[in-house]
Amino acid sequence: LNEDINPLKMEKWRLNDIGSQSGKSVVITGANSGLGYESAKILSRAGAKVVMACRSLSKGEKARESILQHNPGADLVIMELDLTSLQSIRNFAGHYKEQNQKLHILINNAGIMMTPFHLTEDGFEQQMATNHLGHFALTALLMEVIKKSSGARVVQVSSMAHKVAKLSLDEIHSPQPESFSPFRTYANSKLANLLFTFELQRYFEKHKIDAMALAAHPGFAFTNIIRYLGSPSSVKFLKSAFAWLIPTAQQGALPLIRASVDENARGADYFGPSNWGGFRGKPVRTKASSKAFDEVLARQLWELSEKLTRCYFD
Ligand SMILES: NC(=O)c1ccc[n+]([C@@H]2O[C@H](COP(=O)([O-])OP(=O)(O)OC[C@H]3O[C@@H](n4cnc5c(N)ncnc54)[C@H](OP(=O)(O)O)[C@@H]3O)[C@@H](O)[C@H]2O)c1
Repeated sequence: LNEDINPLKMEKWRLNDIGSQSGKSVVITGANSGLGYESAKILSRAGAKVVMACRSLSKGEKARESILQHNPGADLVIMELDLTSLQSIRNFAGHYKEQNQKLHILINNAGIMMTPFHLTEDGFEQQMATNHLGHFALTALLMEVIKKSSGARVVQVSSMAHKVAKLSLDEIHSPQPESFSPFRTYANSKLANLLFTFELQRYFEKHKIDAMALAAHPGFAFTNIIRYLGSPSSVKFLKSAFAWLIPTAQQGALPLIRASVDENARGADYFGPSNWGGFRGKPVRTKASSKAFDEVLARQLWELSEKLTRCYFD
């Protein structure tokens, strides 16, 4: 795997390099807002059929209408998916497979950050459920159509926050309110995204599946993800005071797009912005922290995720 990437030596890539995506089927989770919305806009403009997997059908429909205003020919389908519910994930995967033979690009993008302690209907902590376990289950359930799609890609959306993670499997298995920290749990879920990416790539290679697992992070972009950072008025202040500095959601989406379509990308590549320590800039190959390459932890996380979600790859 690509542990020794020097981003400065990597070739440049621009949105114009995207090429036609016509004939490709794409699923983007959390496509009604932020990076997911921008990715749906860009990939549908390039000709792909995009399934916008949203927990709110009305928000999804509104987002679809907005994209259609710019691009009336866009092939966009809204489907309901709540990543905090294993039943909803099963329903989504079942309906997708009834309606589609193939899945060329799965962007596991939806996420929440620094939310208060809350257990989902399946007993999972909500950030870990949304950001990691839900996407793990979704990928396992869609593997049948991924395998049928030559050169398919599964893209996890991680974060620079993964670098400060201290992931313990106990906290996924038995989350406790006493030891809960909203930021640490978010960081841990983002490390889990990378551990899953690299283990999934090893799985593809071991089973000779013609597919790639990749990851991306946006640096920092002003989206609704910051809603739990403070009171509504302080978040509003933050947005207006730093609007000149913080990249837009579209700029933040570029590493996701590059991971999804760059023809020179390889399995286990991780893309992020080039400048300011990965905060903003052009999408380039970047380096995950050494923790993300812990193969023992990755394997244990995979096995625990299978057990908890009861969604198995083999
Ligand atoms: N923005 C950044 O600076 C930044 C930095 C690092 C990493 N990221 C990562 O980028 C990804 C996208 O975030 P964003 O910045 O675009 O935030 P966003 O604007 O808040 O979008 C998040 C999306 O996820 C959806 N979502 C949340 N919970 C869900 C659930 N249970 N089931 C299905 N969908 C759910 C949201 O739906 P609703 O609209 O219904 O809430 C929304 O569509 C996340 O994985 C985040 O961790 C973002």
